[in-house]
Amino acid sequence: MSLDVLLGLQWGDEGKGKIVDFVSKKYDIIARFQGGPNAGHTIIFNNQKHILHTIPSGIFNEKVKNVIGNGVVIDPVTLSTELSKLEKLGINYQNLFISRKAHLIIPTHKHLDRASEIAKGEQKIGSTLRGIGPTYMDKTGRNGLRIGDIELTDFHEKFKNLTNKHKNILSQYNYQERFEDDIELWFKAIEKIKQIKFIDSEYFFEDAIEHKQQILAEGAQGTLLDLDFGTYPFVTSSNTISSGACNGLGVSPNKIKNVVGVFKAYCTRVGNGPFITELKNTLGQKLAKQGHEFGSTTGRARRCGWIDLPALKYAININGVTELSMMKADVLSGFEKISVCTGYKYNGKIIQHLPYDLDDQSIEPIYIELDGWDEDLSKLTSINTLPKAFENYILFLEKELKKPISIISVGPDRKQTIFR
Ligand code: GDP
Ligand code: IMO
Ligand code: MG
Repeated sequence: MSLDVLLGLQWGDEGKGKIVDFVSKKYDIIARFQGGPNAGHTIIFNNQKHILHTIPSGIFNEKVKNVIGNGVVIDPVTLSTELSKLEKLGINYQNLFISRKAHLIIPTHKHLDRASEIAKGEQKIGSTLRGIGPTYMDKTGRNGLRIGDIELTDFHEKFKNLTNKHKNILSQYNYQERFEDDIELWFKAIEKIKQIKFIDSEYFFEDAIEHKQQILAEGAQGTLLDLDFGTYPFVTSSNTISSGACNGLGVSPNKIKNVVGVFKAYCTRVGNGPFITELKNTLGQKLAKQGHEFGSTTGRARRCGWIDLPALKYAININGVTELSMMKADVLSGFEKISVCTGYKYNGKIIQHLPYDLDDQSIEPIYIELDGWDEDLSKLTSINTLPKAFENYILFLEKELKKPISIISVGPDRKQTIFR
């Protein structure tokens, strides 16, 4: 019996979905614990690409139960589209469960997200505009609508009250847009998602643990987007770190065993906010091109840069990471030198920690250069045949990060994954 957590150590899109799908055979249950349709988790096998936003990445493994935990915010419209896609593929979702305590994104939440971003102007967060922030605000403000409310007689009244409250706020923003059609679609989607079993996830997990089931909590976003420990205010509105799995599922902290930290062999960020190792030059463009760095949810171009060790060490510590998965190593082929950020120059000093004001333009990354390699890694199947320079890169990172890199990913396909 154990709860393992798998999560991103950077700004999201590290390749979490691919690894969750890959390791899902070792587990009885895969569970999402936070975030919502701002996430886009890509899984590729049999030449088919699947992008999941709300549904856990264990769904392609028939034997696994998939749980959408109470910490997730759910847009019924996105979720019902995901269900329809599964139906077309002939994939059964009898094994999908949703916590009654998960909050619902209602149509006006998305408009509030947009209105808030417009009001922020230059300072906008670069939100995915999926209504995530406003929905979590209603949760903490104790105004939210939850999955369990669907089963209650006053559901429509609760929906109307919350919508009216939002209309008032939107009028203060001077925001005018019709949403009657959205509402009709939303209620249709509610009917569809009723096909999923609603559960009390805290009891579900209590029972699973009693029956010695293996559980994997699947993180969304990444540590540097965590509401408390990320690059605030340029973050998402949930706790993306390992402790979030306890709140977002209803499992006690002493049940967590392994924490797998997923990171790219370089670094990307989509949306606004500080990114100390960002490359605004041809090297950055080369990473973006070779890595096909476009957002899985919004299609926006991802900003690219070198790997940042102080930020990774911070993430490893906060999450209690026990092992690492390095993704997209294949993308680094063909770089003569690979730079690794080992510290920052800040206020005339060399520091190893993330300063409070990361937006300070005077922070400069300090790099060391390692030799690159030209070999194509995407066909590798064993760690015995790694190019020497690539092996040195792995050993260097392991020594610095003091955690084993147990999985190396060398391409987007499920098969392009190597255990060490
Ligand atoms: P997630 O949000 O963490 O699940 O990651 P995304 O799916 O948003 O983004 C990762 C992208 O990289 C997807 O397009 C994946 O198909 C792709 N990908 C994952 N692992 C690898 C890899 O090792 N090499 C390459 N080239 N692409 C990868
Ligand atoms: P996955 O799970 C990358 C970013 C947005 C924006 C900020 C806040 O696929 O890794 P939000 O819509 O949450 O209010 O946006 O967070 N963001 C992500 N970036 N991957 C994600 O998820 C993200 N989810 C949110 O771009 O900068
Ligand atoms: Mg993603």
